[in-house]
Amino acid sequence: MEQVKAAIIYYSATGTVHALAEAAAKGAEKAGAEVRLRRVPELAPEAAISSNPAWEQHRRDTADIPEAALEDLAWADVLLFGTPTRFGTPSSQLKAFIDSTGPLWQEGRLADKVCSAFTASNTAHGGQESTLLGLANVFYHWGGILVPPGYADPVQLRSGNPYGASHVSGDGPPDEVALEAAAFQARRAVDIAAALIVGRAA
Ligand SMILES: Cc1cc2nc3c(=O)[nH]c(=O)nc-3n(C[C@H](O)[C@H](O)[C@H](O)COP(=O)(O)O)c2cc1C
Repeated sequence: MEQVKAAIIYYSATGTVHALAEAAAKGAEKAGAEVRLRRVPELAPEAAISSNPAWEQHRRDTADIPEAALEDLAWADVLLFGTPTRFGTPSSQLKAFIDSTGPLWQEGRLADKVCSAFTASNTAHGGQESTLLGLANVFYHWGGILVPPGYADPVQLRSGNPYGASHVSGDGPPDEVALEAAAFQARRAVDIAAALIVGRAA
C-alpha cells in the first residue's frame, strides 16, 4: 500500500507545542507514515525574542528543524497543525503561514486531506478549545477531512480534550498524558488517511 504522508506544521516560542509536535511526529511514524516535522517562520522582532531567555533558547535548540513550505502541504495526506493559544486564538506566526496558502487553496490542492490540530495554553481555561476550533474553520475552507481525537482512545479520558491534544504549560512541560494524546491523535489521523487511500484505490 502507498505510504501515508504526514506533515506536522507548528509554531512554538518556548517549546511546549514543539514537544507535542515531536510526540505527534513519533506517533505518525509509528503508525507507518512518512513524516515531515516543520516549524513555521518566526515573525517576532529580534528584541522581543532576546528579551525572553526561554524563547531565545528554544529558537537555538530548533534551528535545525526545516521551515514549513507550501510544498509540504501539497505533499501531505495528513496535516497536523500545532500552535500556542494566543488570546484564545492561533499564533500570528501559524496564521501568517496559513494565510500564504491562497494559491494552493485556489488550485484545490488543500482539499481531501485529513486535518487535525493541537495546542498549549498557560491556563486550563485559557482558550484551548477556541484555538482548535479556529483552526477547524480553516480546515472547513480547505475542504479538509476533520479528524479530531474525540474519546476514541483511553488516553483521551485522561487528557480530557476531544478537540485536539493540548497542554497547560502553567503546570510545567508536557507530561506523559499530553504526549501520549498527541501521539494518539497523529496515529488516528494516519490510520484514517490510510483507510482513505485504500478506499479510493478500490
Ligand atoms: C501574546 C500571548 C498571548 C497568550 N494568550 C494566552 C491565552 O489566551 N490563554 C492562555 O492560557 N495562555 C496564553 N498565552 C500563553 C501561551 O499560550 C502558553 O505559554 C503556551 O504554552 C506557549 O506555548 P509554546 O511554549 O509552545 O510557545 C499567551 C502567550 C502570549 C505570548
